[in-house]
Amino acid sequence: MTATAAAPSPSRPEDVLRLNAVCPYYTMFPLDFPLQQLAARPDATRVLDPFCGRGTTLYAARLAELPSVGIDINPVAAAIAQAKLVQVTPGAVVRLARQVLDGGMRGEVPEGDFWQWCFERQTLRELVALREALLGMTTSTAAMLRAVLLGILHGPRNKNLPSYLSNQMPRTYASKPAYAVKFWKKSDMEPVRVPTLEVIERRAKRLLDAAPLAHGGRVYLGDSVETLGGLRQKFDLVVTSPPYYGMRTYVADQWLRSWFLGGPPEVLYGTHGQIARQPNQEAFIQALAEVWGATARRCHQGARLAIRFGALPSARTDPEQMLLASVREAKAGWVVKEVRQAGTPPKRTRQAEQFGKAGSAIDEIDLIAELIGLPH
Ligand SMILES: C[S@@+](CC[C@H](N)C(=O)[O-])C[C@H]1O[C@@H](n2cnc3c(N)ncnc32)[C@H](O)[C@@H]1O
Repeated sequence: MTATAAAPSPSRPEDVLRLNAVCPYYTMFPLDFPLQQLAARPDATRVLDPFCGRGTTLYAARLAELPSVGIDINPVAAAIAQAKLVQVTPGAVVRLARQVLDGGMRGEVPEGDFWQWCFERQTLRELVALREALLGMTTSTAAMLRAVLLGILHGPRNKNLPSYLSNQMPRTYASKPAYAVKFWKKSDMEPVRVPTLEVIERRAKRLLDAAPLAHGGRVYLGDSVETLGGLRQKFDLVVTSPPYYGMRTYVADQWLRSWFLGGPPEVLYGTHGQIARQPNQEAFIQALAEVWGATARRCHQGARLAIRFGALPSARTDPEQMLLASVREAKAGWVVKEVRQAGTPPKRTRQAEQFGKAGSAIDEIDLIAELIGLPH
């Protein structure tokens, strides 16, 4: 099968796509976007996403039977993305979890109101033991178990079989401790015992029973410019989405998942190398330009670059102008072929008012460029 066979998701059996939903992540793009880019480049042999987030591009490449490389500076993103590339059975994931839990309850259980209210005591001990064991493990099975656990760590409480280990919480982001404790106390919601192994088993089966064959690749945890500088491979398709201008909460919103990966048991404020940390638009454009430059140096002549980008309305910026300026500033040989409103026909063929620009929460565009002339 070639990349052209990677039809958009509606025509695929739903269960093949399940692994892509192992864990939610802030501002992930829909699988259709990278699938469409793969279909537009049926000759692509290796795919890159220098801001890979939860690895949607990598999963699309897997569906198209291509190897891919993803880079992200957020450990939560990198851990989820890694699971998109590995080939393991649900049985192997469950065996590893059972082995850890049978090995005894190691690890320091965090103290305090939040932890007492968020997880039932035994469930928390199991979670801590799994956290501790997974910290040093680098196998494919460990990568998958880690991502499964990130996905079941917090979410709504079910009436029937539990799907999440926590007390009532959103699944996409972790509430701040003081707010969460206040809510649980006010709603009289004591945490209930959730059998960790059973939830892992159900989730692993659901995600992996029909997972497509893996086709290789790697996820790097780090800054994209630095990491790209150390890569040897070359790419002919890049599909990516940098943080939207004005969005600075990637790390703080994932604080509980960050703790599970070895972080401190409290909310992580700060920017942690995020490209959106730049103090103003000019600096942000320059930082993006460096990424497009470093990307070009790892691409073959004629490579396709597809970027989805947007801005929060509160940022009061024009994402199209910012993105165009960053590609121009890169002076890396990228020639812009098209800019379109995300998920709609090319911009020049539409009437601006059809898109309800002012009303939409986030104004998103897709930019397509081609590498003409290699950078020096
Ligand atoms: C819009 S999200 C990408 C979402 C992705 N398309 C998905 O479907 O999940 C942007 C990502 O860029 C990452 N990022 C920010 N600054 C970075 C940097 N300097 N190097 C690498 N990744 C960075 C963020 O951690 C975030 O995961």
